[in-house]
Amino acid sequence: MLKRNKITIVGAGNVGATAAHWAASKELGDIVLVDIVEGVPQGKGLDLYEASPVELFDAKITGTNDYKATEGSDVVIITAGLARKPGMSRDDLMKTNAGIVKGCAEQVAKYSPEAVIIVVSNPLDVMTYVAWKASGFPKNRVVGMAGVLDTARYRSFIAEAAGVSVEDIQALVLGGHGDDMVPLISYTTISGIPVTEFINKEKLDSIVERARKGGIEIVNLLKTGSAYYAPSAAAVQMAEAIIKDKKRVLPCSAWLDGEFGISGVFCGVPVLLGAGGIERIVQVPLTAEERIALNASAGSVKSMIDLLDI
Ligand code: NAI
Ligand code: 2OP
Repeated sequence: MLKRNKITIVGAGNVGATAAHWAASKELGDIVLVDIVEGVPQGKGLDLYEASPVELFDAKITGTNDYKATEGSDVVIITAGLARKPGMSRDDLMKTNAGIVKGCAEQVAKYSPEAVIIVVSNPLDVMTYVAWKASGFPKNRVVGMAGVLDTARYRSFIAEAAGVSVEDIQALVLGGHGDDMVPLISYTTISGIPVTEFINKEKLDSIVERARKGGIEIVNLLKTGSAYYAPSAAAVQMAEAIIKDKKRVLPCSAWLDGEFGISGVFCGVPVLLGAGGIERIVQVPLTAEERIALNASAGSVKSMIDLLDI
C-alpha cells in the first residue's frame, strides 16, 4: 500500500506554522507540528486541518508536544528557537538557539533516523552545524535554508527593477546567512540574458545591498519578530525537492569538505537537492572577487562555530 510522506515541523511559531500551511496546500504529505508550548501546535494543527475542505487538500495534520508522534518522518524542518527583534543580530541568538536546536535534533534522530533535516533556526549556518552534530546524521541529510530565501528576496527586487515577471529571474546568492552573504551578479539572468542588459550597475549594487539586509528590513517593520512568509515558502520548496526527488539545484547551506576550497563549515553553495538530501555540491566557477567574498563569509560562520561548546 502506498503511504503518504510525513513531514515534521519543529517549532509551531510564525515560520513553522506558515510552513505547515504551504506544505499542506501543496499536499506534500501528512504534517506533524511540534512545540514545547502546550496547546499551540495542537490548536494551529487543528485550525489548519479545518481549512482543508475549503482549500481542498488531503493531509493529516497533528499538533503535539511529544516527539513520539513524529516517528518515521521523511523530512523534518527545524524552526524552533528565538527570532530577532530590532537591534538584535542573528548572532545574538546563537547560545540560546544552539541549546534548543541540539535538543530538537537529538529527538528527531531518535524517532526519524532516516529523515532529511532542513534547519531554519538562526544563526542559520551555525544551527545547521549544531543539528548535524547532535543528530549524528551523514552530511548529505542535514541542510540549512537561507540561500533560497536570500535569492528570493534578490530575485523579487530584480523583477521589480527590470519590470519583468519574477518567473524569469534566475540568480544565485552564496555564503553564510549574514550581512556578508554573496549575491552573484555574474550568475543573475533574465531568461538566460545577463541582468546587466536590463539594469544598470548602480541600481544592481543597491539591489545587492538591499538583499543582504533583507532580513533586518522586515524586522524593523514588524518590530516584534522576523520574516516568515518567504522563509517558510523557501523551506517548503526545499522539502518538496526532497520529497518528490526533484533534483532541484538550489543555494543551500551545506557542509563543505574542500568544495570551493573551503573546509569544516556549513555555508551557502549551489546543491542538487533530491530524495538523498544533498546529492551533490555544484562547484561553479567564481571570479577572484566572488571567491574572496565567499571565503570571508565562510570565515565568519567558522569563527562562530568555534565559540560553541557542543
Ligand atoms: P517564533 O518565535 O514565531 O517561533 C519559534 C517557536 O519555537 C515558538 O513557537 C517556540 O515555542 C518554539 N520553541 C522554542 N523552543 C522550542 C523547543 N525546544 N522545541 C520546540 N519548539 C520550541 O519564531 P519564528 O519567526 O518562527 O522563527 C523561528 C526561527 O527561525 C528563529 O530562530 C528565526 O531567527 C529563524 N529564521 C531563520 C530564517 C532563515 O533564513 N534561515 C528566516 C526566518 C526566521
Ligand atoms: C531573515 O533573513 C530573520 O534570518 C531571518 O528574515
